[in-house]
Amino acid sequence: MQVQLRIRRFNPEKDQSGWWGEYTLDNANKNDSVLDLLHRVKWEIDGTLSLRRSCAHGVCGSDAMRINGANALACKTLVSRLGEGDMVKIQVEPILGLKVIKDLIVDMEPFMDHYKSVLPYFINDEPAPSNGRERLQSQEDRARFDDTTKCILCAACTTSCPSFWANEKYVGPAAIVNAHRFIFDSRDQAPEKRLAVVGDTFGVWRCRTNFNCTNACPREIEITKAIAEVKHVLATGEI
Ligand code: SF4
Ligand code: F3S
Ligand code: FES
Repeated sequence: MQVQLRIRRFNPEKDQSGWWGEYTLDNANKNDSVLDLLHRVKWEIDGTLSLRRSCAHGVCGSDAMRINGANALACKTLVSRLGEGDMVKIQVEPILGLKVIKDLIVDMEPFMDHYKSVLPYFINDEPAPSNGRERLQSQEDRARFDDTTKCILCAACTTSCPSFWANEKYVGPAAIVNAHRFIFDSRDQAPEKRLAVVGDTFGVWRCRTNFNCTNACPREIEITKAIAEVKHVLATGEI
């Protein structure tokens, strides 16, 4: 089959603004991923095309992009999901709401700053058990944050959120997911510090339950549900 690929291009050293590059790829396969196609453009047609990727298997989270208008990982999006027949049209753009550095590469620093603001690490100053065992937790307590342990920090959620597009100071769904992971961990001792961040002006109340984030998450994390659980803690004071 043939794929007609439109890719948003921008080189800050040459271009005043972004433009669309159009590339025709023959002998494509319905099981090719969008990342495979981008590699063909880069390796066979134009070596200046810039994109981030590493694992190619949906693990590292580095290749989130906007594919036919929806955020997804290029390595996990197969041609068969985007069209059928002898010719498939695919459009690829950088994720929205973050500054484009070059072509499909955006500046992830503001996203990572929001992530860091929720203290996304285990806090417990008490000494670990002296018998060499881990801090124990019931299966029920562990299950409360199981879903939010799966985040790979790809930013597909935050950069699909209209509230984030409207105001980049909104901490965003990815940061809230990672706050949730520790707020609901019975072994952690600092939930109030994270709740102070996500309960502030640019925290969870900016979420308008749009669900774009949940639809975009390649790990199928129930993000909107996690945000609602954090809102409930803030409203009731009960974890
Ligand atoms: Fe990516 Fe999902 Fe984590 Fe958001 S919650 S950064 S979409 S893995
Ligand atoms: Fe945005 Fe997700 Fe809320 S898309 S508005 S954070 S449900
Ligand atoms: Fe690692 Fe796609 S390249 S998630």
